[in-house]
Amino acid sequence: MMRCFIIKASEARTSPDFSLKSLSMYRMDLIARCIIAAFSKPSGIRKNVVLHIVLEGPPNPPITVSINGEELEFMPISEIKAAEIVYNALANKPNKGVYVRRKSFSEVVMENLNNEIFYLHENGTDINNIKITRNPIFILGDHKGIDKESEKFLDKIGVRRVSLGPISYLSSHCITIVNYELDNRGF
Ligand SMILES: C[S@@+](CC[C@H](N)C(=O)[O-])C[C@H]1O[C@@H](n2cnc3c(N)ncnc32)[C@H](O)[C@@H]1O
Repeated sequence: MMRCFIIKASEARTSPDFSLKSLSMYRMDLIARCIIAAFSKPSGIRKNVVLHIVLEGPPNPPITVSINGEELEFMPISEIKAAEIVYNALANKPNKGVYVRRKSFSEVVMENLNNEIFYLHENGTDINNIKITRNPIFILGDHKGIDKESEKFLDKIGVRRVSLGPISYLSSHCITIVNYELDNRGF
């Protein structure tokens, strides 16, 4: 069973001109941590994960970088190595299992409508009370959360809000918690 995460990265750079040595600029550090959280497990790569990163920062938004764990050939164990995956993709030299498309957040969500989609939000239904049946998709925001207009769009198409508790966690930590939850449910 596949699991998928969509992260809406409102400030992430859309050209390969960011420094791998200072990732906090454009919050590429947040993206790097999400990549590590999505794919790492003690014995290597989580093959059953797809991560869509919607980059919305300047100079060329939107660009979606998608990483398919089934095809990924190495596990990036440092933030620099993880950010390099995005850098290479933007430089038209994508690593195996990495895809770059000119797709907006709403377009990426719409192309996944056949699966169960959840929006991770502190005020949603507790995840413990949610039945997850097939290839779930989890949407999450960056350090700014998801903007009101996008929230309206998600409400309009009937995406349910799911909470991991009242505390606001880092995006990468949310991915780890969801991976843990799905592992425990035998997905
Ligand atoms: C650092 S939080 C965003 C905080 C931001 N200041 C806000 O008010 O939305 C990043 C993302 O993680 C997810 N998130 C954080 N804590 C959560 C929780 N307790 N339950 C569900 N999702 C959570 C949400 O998708 C959120 O947009």
